[in-house]
Amino acid sequence: MSDLIAVIIPAGGSGERLGAAIPKALVHLAGKTLVEHAVAHMAPVAHQIIVAAPIGYEEHFQNLLGSDAQVISGGSTRTQSVKNALKHIDGKVDFVLVHDAARPLASTELALRIIDELRQGERAVIPGLPVADTIKRIDMDGYVRRTYPRSMLRQIQTPQGFKHKILVKAHQSKDELTDDAGLVENMGIEVKVIDGEVRALKVTTMPDLQSAQAFLIEEVNPLIRVGIGTDTHAFSKDSNRALWLAGLYWPDQIGVDGHSDGDVAIHAICDALFSAAGLGDLGANFGTDDPQYEGASGQYLLSETLYRVREAGYQVNNVSVQVIGNRPRIGSRRAEAIATISKIMDGVSVSVSATTTDGMGFTGEGQGLSAIATALLIPLTR
Ligand code: CTP
Ligand code: MG
Repeated sequence: MSDLIAVIIPAGGSGERLGAAIPKALVHLAGKTLVEHAVAHMAPVAHQIIVAAPIGYEEHFQNLLGSDAQVISGGSTRTQSVKNALKHIDGKVDFVLVHDAARPLASTELALRIIDELRQGERAVIPGLPVADTIKRIDMDGYVRRTYPRSMLRQIQTPQGFKHKILVKAHQSKDELTDDAGLVENMGIEVKVIDGEVRALKVTTMPDLQSAQAFLIEEVNPLIRVGIGTDTHAFSKDSNRALWLAGLYWPDQIGVDGHSDGDVAIHAICDALFSAAGLGDLGANFGTDDPQYEGASGQYLLSETLYRVREAGYQVNNVSVQVIGNRPRIGSRRAEAIATISKIMDGVSVSVSATTTDGMGFTGEGQGLSAIATALLIPLTR
C-alpha cells in the first residue's frame, strides 16, 4: 500500500455559465469555497495536490489553501490546465487523480474506490452514473443520426484516476477534450467505469449550486444538536468582590461567590455548549475544585469550551442566554454584552436577555443571580 498518489485539481476556469463575479472555484458553498471543498475531500488520499488557478489568482488560491496544496497557473482550457499541473508532479508518483474543483462534494470514499481499482491493475478508472434521459447523436444540421441504448450509457464524473505514466503520455496529444479519460481512450487504452455518486455533481449553473447546497443541508439536518445550561451563584458578603456578568465587569456592583469569576451567563452558555455536544457539563470539563480554574475568567472558560466543542466536530450556530436577577440592569449594556461574548466565540450569533422574578424566590429576594442558556450546534462541514 505504498503507492504514491497525486491529485490534480483544475480550477482555472472563469465559471461563465455560473455567472458569478469571481472565478467559479472561489464561489462559496456552506461557508467554504468550491476549491476548498474539493481539496478537503481529496487530501486524505493524496501525497501531493496541485491546483491550477486562473491566471492572476495564484496567490489568492495559495493563501486560501495553505500547505494542503501547491497552486500553479492554469491554462486557457481545462486540458491546458491539467497539462501545466502534470509538469509539477513528483516523478515518483504512481497514480494521478484528476478532479474538477467544480465537483466540491465528490467524496474521499469515491477517490479510494478509484485508487483501489488502479492498485488492482487497471490503468484508467473513471466514475459514472446511469443516464436518465435518452441520448441521441445529431449532425451539424440538427438531424438525429443515432440513438444509443440508455443502459449502455454513463454520465462521467471526476475524480478520474490514471497510472502516472499513461496520463503523461496521453497529454502529449494536442487534442482538447472535456475530460482526461478521452485522451487515454484515444491511445487505445481500456478505461474502466465504476459507480459514481450523486453527490459528485458538477456545479455548472446556479441551480447546480443550489442542488449542492440542498445536498449538504440534507446531510447536516439530522446531525443538528441543541443543548441547555443553567448556573446560579449567591451574591457575596464581601463588598469588595467584583461582579462579572455576561463577559462584562460591572463597577459599583457587589459580585457573587464562586470558584471562578462567577459569571453565571457565561457558565450557562458553556454548559449549554457541552450539553449540545454531548461532552458532559462545566464541572465535568473544568472540575469545580481544580486549582487550575481558581478565579478563571468567563472569557477563558468560554474559549476553552468552544475549542472542545469544535474538536468534537461541531460549529456553533447560535447561543442564547437569559439572566435572572434583580440587579444589575442588563438592558443598558446588552449590546456590549452581546459583542463581548460573540467576540470570544469568533463572531457567533449571540442573544442576551434578562428578567426578574417579581420579588419571589432567591433571585427575587436579591440573594443571587441565575442564568439559563441554549446553544445550537451543527456539524462542521465535511
Ligand atoms: N478549468 C481549468 N482551466 C480552464 C477551464 C476550466 O482548470 N481554462 C477547470 C474549471 O475550473 C473546472 C473544471 O475545469 O474546475 C471543469 O470546467 P467547467 O465546469 O467548464 O468550469 P469553467 O470553465 O470555469 O465554467 P464555464 O465553462 O461555465 O466558464
Ligand atoms: Mg468550461
